Amino acid sequence: MTLIRTLRRAAVDLPLLTAAVRQHAAHARDTSVYTSPAAFEAFIRGGGNVPLYERVSGELANHYTPDVHSLLDIGCGDGHALFPALAATAHPHALERLTLVEPASALLASALTRAPAEQPTLPVQALNETLGTFTAKLQPDDRWDLAQATFALQAIPEPERWDGLARLRAHVKRLVIVEFDIPDLQRGSDAYVASLAQRYERALGEYGGATRELVAQGFLIPMFLGQLDAQTAATNWEHPMPIWRDKLEALGWRVTRLAHLSDYFWAPAFVLVAEA
Ligand SMILES: C[S@@+](CC[C@H](N)C(=O)[O-])C[C@H]1O[C@@H](n2cnc3c(N)ncnc32)[C@H](O)[C@@H]1O
Repeated sequence: MTLIRTLRRAAVDLPLLTAAVRQHAAHARDTSVYTSPAAFEAFIRGGGNVPLYERVSGELANHYTPDVHSLLDIGCGDGHALFPALAATAHPHALERLTLVEPASALLASALTRAPAEQPTLPVQALNETLGTFTAKLQPDDRWDLAQATFALQAIPEPERWDGLARLRAHVKRLVIVEFDIPDLQRGSDAYVASLAQRYERALGEYGGATRELVAQGFLIPMFLGQLDAQTAATNWEHPMPIWRDKLEALGWRVTRLAHLSDYFWAPAFVLVAEA
């Protein structure tokens, strides 16, 4: 079933998505106008992202217990989950050092701008590299009490991700990851297209007025169409929640917590806690 047929049939049920795709198609040649950092900013700071990140940071804060003195954040981005978590600990956290691993220079720079303002006494080591590069260089004495990764492991290609997590086990006591429990659907199938359309309809409904248009044309519709385009190289590799548990246990991690954290347009976010 083609996208157009799916959308035609679904126009009544998916009014926001249908209108946004039509508008996008009408301006498709002027792509630069429609993909902007402003659109991503408006997306991430609004809609369902607000309660999502509140829940994620709240969960992370629960793990900054008095016995956790060193923290490693893998794929920290600009610290959108990390810094609110550090601020949200019920007691002053006991961290003596923070290590950030982030290959995107601009995001790492943003995190490093935030660190002294929000955590002035916490020493920060910033590594502008991938999980693969970082874990390949680990020395026997390198140790962290806790490692965390929020929506970052999905962005790491599979051999690098699993090899990295296997190597990391000798160097951290506990691992906390947050990812999305995506539906188990065959990419490109009718059920997949219908599910995508319903999910993006919901996302569009979480924004109003001019913000909806900005978010739709600059972020959500390009994302939606990209996910339908078989030629688009995949840039993330997600799994249903049980796959994450099975893969980590196969690497020797002992999974002690696996739970949904927050409803979200894309899929429910879940937390997985594992002991080395
Ligand atoms: C969706 S963002 C999540 C950022 C942040 N953890 C948060 O919760 O807001 C995914 C992050 O993974 C990072 N990333 C991509 N490839 C990576 C790799 N190979 N190793 C480590 N991090 C990676 C990206 O640069 C990006 O900052």
